[in-house]
Amino acid sequence: MYNATRTMAEAIASGLEKQGVRYKIFNAAVTDPNDVITEVFKAKGVLIGSCTVNNTVLRPTAGLLEVIKSLRFRGKLGAGFGSYGWSGESPKVISDSLEKAGLKVPLEPVKVKYRPSGEELAECTAFGESFAKTIKE
Ligand SMILES: Cc1cc2nc3c(=O)[nH]c(=O)nc-3n(C[C@H](O)[C@H](O)[C@H](O)COP(=O)(O)O)c2cc1C
Repeated sequence: MYNATRTMAEAIASGLEKQGVRYKIFNAAVTDPNDVITEVFKAKGVLIGSCTVNNTVLRPTAGLLEVIKSLRFRGKLGAGFGSYGWSGESPKVISDSLEKAGLKVPLEPVKVKYRPSGEELAECTAFGESFAKTIKE
């Protein structure tokens, strides 16, 4: 809604880049779900972000999580993140859903209240670096 989760995604991506891990960022609200899933299929890992709306994830994110579950990926890494205003369920909804879908979810999801501060963006970058390290293991 206010680009908070997008800003987090970009900071996480900078962490991946620091560790030399290649990535692609998609906005699930405007990208054909088949294109996103094709990339998820090819990737070693997927980080999914959504702000919290009405105590859960945005609809395009929910759709993506459903498809990921039905494809029964094995050996892929996953993580959740997102911005929130008060209750903040979304990152854990994503993380739990990826785990149930059979992905390895090594990191606690990262969440930020409203727009991330400089310090919170640094935490997102560190999160991306940690994820990248598990990808490289
Ligand atoms: C219609 C609407 C519903 C929302 N519902 C929730 C909610 O249930 N729980 C919560 O923690 N935040 C809720 N929020 C706050 C957003 O998660 C918060 O503004 C967030 O920073 C938006 O991130 P974004 O810029 O990435 O979309 C809601 C915001 C709107 C506009």
